Amino acid sequence: MKGKRLGTLFAALVGSLLFAGTAAAQPSSTAGLINELNVELLWVAVPVTIFVEAVLIYTVLKFKDADEAKPTKENRRLEVTWTIATAVILLFVGAASYGVLADPAVTHTKDMEIAPDENDVHVEAVAYQWNWRMNYPEHNITELTAEEVNVKRAQGLEGPTIVVPKGQQVYFTTTSEDVIHSMHVPKLGLKQDSIPGQRNTIMTTPLKTGVYQGYCAEYCGVGHSRMYFNVVVVTQDTYDTFIENQTQPASGGNSTSTSSDLAAPSGLTA
Ligand code: CUA
Repeated sequence: MKGKRLGTLFAALVGSLLFAGTAAAQPSSTAGLINELNVELLWVAVPVTIFVEAVLIYTVLKFKDADEAKPTKENRRLEVTWTIATAVILLFVGAASYGVLADPAVTHTKDMEIAPDENDVHVEAVAYQWNWRMNYPEHNITELTAEEVNVKRAQGLEGPTIVVPKGQQVYFTTTSEDVIHSMHVPKLGLKQDSIPGQRNTIMTTPLKTGVYQGYCAEYCGVGHSRMYFNVVVVTQDTYDTFIENQTQPASGGNSTSTSSDLAAPSGLTA
């Protein structure tokens, strides 16, 4: 009975390990770091789990008929061993996690508030009850929605949309106009609080073209569940053309007022 349950547990753990290990190319540098750490920690957790379960089962079977429990005798060698083993495991877990947590693609640092320069891709995500304004401050693009994005991948999408190129650093600055929201794109490994009066920046390098669903990840009122947005990752060429199309119409003009001009030709391929 116990052995069967252990077998199932073992199969599940090995299965998830193999699945995580053979996962396809990572969609972003951030997701890559997080997923790799997950696999590394599984490699530690699985043997520990198997060992503990084995000791437990062995003990239960061996002593199940003992009438009278005897007090444990001191065993210094054993105590030293398990203290050192635990310390080694925790050191590995700590070092591996710190390496990921300290990476600028995972954790926001104060430097990033100044970081994005003209060559970087920079999107500003302004949250409010209950939606998002997606702006490209350097390009004078404001409140971008899928309906006005003339990129093939964005066809059929709705609502606030971010278009970014594959293969270069992208900065997302997020803030809020009212209560605390949170910008969350699970598949890209991105999550950052949107806080009124505060500008938080996260950075990643998208590695795979595609459409990624974004959510608000902080309960912010009755419309919380409606706060969806899209992140469309396209090739550099498509991105350049997209920016060109968005900024073409007017000098310093607001792109939303000219969106009808852009409805025209067939979508670009991503
Ligand atoms: Cu905005 Cu939840």
